Amino acid sequence: MSVYTGFVLFLFVTLALLGGVVSTGLAAKRRMHIPLVVCAVASLGVTIYFAEKLGEVYDLESAGWITPVHLTIAKITTLAYLLPIATGIATLRRPGARPLHRRVAFLVLGLTVLAAVTGTWMLLASDRLSG
Ligand code: HEM
Repeated sequence: MSVYTGFVLFLFVTLALLGGVVSTGLAAKRRMHIPLVVCAVASLGVTIYFAEKLGEVYDLESAGWITPVHLTIAKITTLAYLLPIATGIATLRRPGARPLHRRVAFLVLGLTVLAAVTGTWMLLASDRLSG
């Protein structure tokens, strides 16, 4: 499997799994929600692995200002995944934490979309390295 195919494949698998995470969360299907979170986070890890490999094939500096912007958003988003995990565990212990869990879950999903959009923009604006 090429690096490009791996990246696109895992990006879509991650997005589909996140869709499942949101729908099972909203429907309060905990037995499905938590395993889906584990799969989505693992799939996100594989997507990041392929994204980094893809970055080696492109001269990311050549894309200009979008590169540091994307890399900053990507790091913040990765760290931000700790928020729904922490508030999700809190919701298991105390149902009153559910509204906070919902807010941080949608914040992290918004950041994920922003990271995907700026990452795609960065690659499209970069020169491909030859050889
Ligand atoms: C990427 C991570 C996650 C996302 C995007 C997410 C998303 C959501 C959403 C949208 C809801 C519905 C909230 C509402 O309608 O008020 C929800 C509910 C819930 N989530 Fe998560 N969640 C994540 C991680 C976790 C984790 C790691 C746990 C626990 C270990 C967890 C446990 C729960 C529980 C217990 C509920 C309430 C279900 C109920 O009312 O029975 N979530 N989640």
